[in-house]
Amino acid sequence: MEFSQVVRRRRMTRGFDADRPVPHHILQSALEQATRAPSAGFSQGWDFVVLRGEQTQKFWPATTSEDRPADRWLTGVSAAPCLIVCVSNPDAYLDRYAEPDKGWADRDTQRWPIPYWDVDTGMAALLVLLTATDHDLGGLFFGVPAHAMTEVKEVLKIPQGRRLVGVVALGYPLADRKSPSLRRGRRRLETVAHDGEFGQPWSGG
Ligand SMILES: Cc1cc2nc3c(=O)[nH]c(=O)nc-3n(C[C@H](O)[C@H](O)[C@H](O)COP(=O)(O)O)c2cc1C
Repeated sequence: MEFSQVVRRRRMTRGFDADRPVPHHILQSALEQATRAPSAGFSQGWDFVVLRGEQTQKFWPATTSEDRPADRWLTGVSAAPCLIVCVSNPDAYLDRYAEPDKGWADRDTQRWPIPYWDVDTGMAALLVLLTATDHDLGGLFFGVPAHAMTEVKEVLKIPQGRRLVGVVALGYPLADRKSPSLRRGRRRLETVAHDGEFGQPWSGG
């Protein structure tokens, strides 16, 4: 598939065929592509905990409460045969930038107004989603609810200092409804891109 087609076809999928696992070579390729993501100082402060088949059931009880019936979102997404839990590692950046070529030996987190460990992990997650699209698979990036962070980390043995940036659900898509958020419409390029200074609409000329 053409690159521009992959970008345009990618849509978050919220309904999966539970009976069709993600072929190993596609999963392997998605993870390999993720490691090609850019990262500040080439710190590569990301990890991916891959849950396949039954293993995905470790994740769901940690994020949902038993007395709440599964809604449509949960029913659709929890059918995904594969979850990739995307984890960032702030220490990898503090360590890397304490090296002589960067020189931030104080490891001061104030130097990081933008948490690039999370940014880079998000970029890696996008490469997983694009690889999935390229192979006609569906994917959804979703966040772990704040109240469930600790339990998910415990159940997956994710070390304390790491951050749960989000989860990519992968699988063959079932016909599902589009995100209601899409009704908001895509922001027009003229309002997103600014020509020379903020507020000057991009004319493309
Ligand atoms: C950082 C981030 C977090 C998101 N979290 C969720 C989520 O928790 N649940 C969900 O269903 N979709 C989530 N989405 C998907 C967005 O709703 C979706 O990307 C947006 O509506 C545009 O639709 P599209 O990606 O299909 O083009 C998230 C997307 C991003 C980038």
